[in-house]
Amino acid sequence: MALKSRPAGFRPKATRSLLTTSERQWGIAMPRPMPVEPRFSLRLSILYSMLSDFSSSLSRAMSSRRTSSVVVPLRSSEMASAEKNSIRRMDVHWMGKSGYGAPPIRRETYGGRRRVSNRGALPLYSAAARLRPMKFPYPVAHSVPLFLAPMAGVSEAPFRRICRSYGADVVVSEFLSCEGLRRGCKSVHDGAFFTEPERPIGIQLYGSDPESMAEAARLVTEHYAPDFVDINFGCPVKKVVKRNGGSGCLKDLGLVQSIIRAVCGATHLPVTAKIRSGWDEASRDPVTIALRCQDGGAQVITLHPRTRTDMFSGHARWDEIGRVVEAVDVPVIGNGDITTAEDAFRMRQETGCAGVMIARGSFGNPWIFQQARALFEGRTPHASPGAAERFAVASRHARLAVEVQGDDRQTTMEFRKHLGWYVKGLPGASDLRRQLHRVESMHEVERIFAEYLSPALAVG
Ligand SMILES: Cc1cc2nc3c(=O)[nH]c(=O)nc-3n(C[C@H](O)[C@H](O)[C@H](O)COP(=O)(O)O)c2cc1C
Repeated sequence: MALKSRPAGFRPKATRSLLTTSERQWGIAMPRPMPVEPRFSLRLSILYSMLSDFSSSLSRAMSSRRTSSVVVPLRSSEMASAEKNSIRRMDVHWMGKSGYGAPPIRRETYGGRRRVSNRGALPLYSAAARLRPMKFPYPVAHSVPLFLAPMAGVSEAPFRRICRSYGADVVVSEFLSCEGLRRGCKSVHDGAFFTEPERPIGIQLYGSDPESMAEAARLVTEHYAPDFVDINFGCPVKKVVKRNGGSGCLKDLGLVQSIIRAVCGATHLPVTAKIRSGWDEASRDPVTIALRCQDGGAQVITLHPRTRTDMFSGHARWDEIGRVVEAVDVPVIGNGDITTAEDAFRMRQETGCAGVMIARGSFGNPWIFQQARALFEGRTPHASPGAAERFAVASRHARLAVEVQGDDRQTTMEFRKHLGWYVKGLPGASDLRRQLHRVESMHEVERIFAEYLSPALAVG
């Protein structure tokens, strides 16, 4: 297929990421540490009481995270026992031998499919059910997989590879316009490029016309063969939503369903959906949106629990992830405000999500996946690395980027944002960042790193 030049108005990839493009597009600045908020919910307190006979370290781990960001990791035996006991209790209830006075389970049909619902049951039981691992429609290495989020201008092939090597189980491409793909726009097709070590990988599409989305899915399946096709119903960017793409679709759930159905009909690959909680506060209804996605054929649903009008402000409402987990039968991936490994662990515990997706928390910090995995396995995570390892990984990441893009100067300039993120938190970081934000070659980057590590070099 001949790739045509990009349509007028499309921002070329080469100029896209001089530090601020994706930030400008997505309406955010640098990753900011999220304040650790006390999140007290009825569900959590019920989960507490349910697990009260478990070891005190379990309570310590969970209660400590309500007051500080340090979590005492559980031993794996404690976690396994907690999850097994939870399931056992739930099974008793589901077999109808409940001694807990729970209301009966309702069986209902939704869009022609019979489903068992525990909505209306006491949260005690649903909390237990939620800790069961779910089966994903693509291969995953862990029962609770960690995802690198799709991020325009950030989650490109080199960063995806770095994150995979540090424990991200699944990665997703940045969102790609279905129209751009159909028209053979080179910069959009560049975004679909990936390498084998990145698998399992999803290619994410956005658009508002079911037919175009179906055609793009067909094309992506044939030409790129990812492990799944993800549909973006969350992008808040003005130029996307004004054509009803991304979260713009959330104003019309019939359209959401038609898009998913059309895409499912065009590919043999699993189709997944990434949603926000609604268009605005008045229409906020993540459960209904998720049910419509499931009914349309989505096999996995990722929820970023903010509305489009929230953009990135306020807090992601994790309680909504828990509600969606209870409502649907497919795996739900929780996303939003995970800035530390402890956050990732806590999200799973609080919401029962089947997987955890990390976006801004991974900026310059691929170690977050390794650290989160340690917590999930009951191990103590390694501390975040010092300057030497950070620089080594930044250099490796940069070399991969040059390999993919070919142009040292252009790549270096686009890479400045990553450099800024990698040095965040180091002593003298602001001075270092000032220097790195002026670099025009990888050679300069290496020199600045070397001088930082051996100040004598700078004098000589
Ligand atoms: C720079 C940037 C680019 C993003 N691009 C995409 C995208 O292409 N597709 C998508 O579904 N979400 C995109 N998002 C949203 C993230 O995937 C994620 O849902 C959001 O940042 C919340 O997660 P976090 O709190 O872990 O950052 C983007 C976010 C950022 C910050």
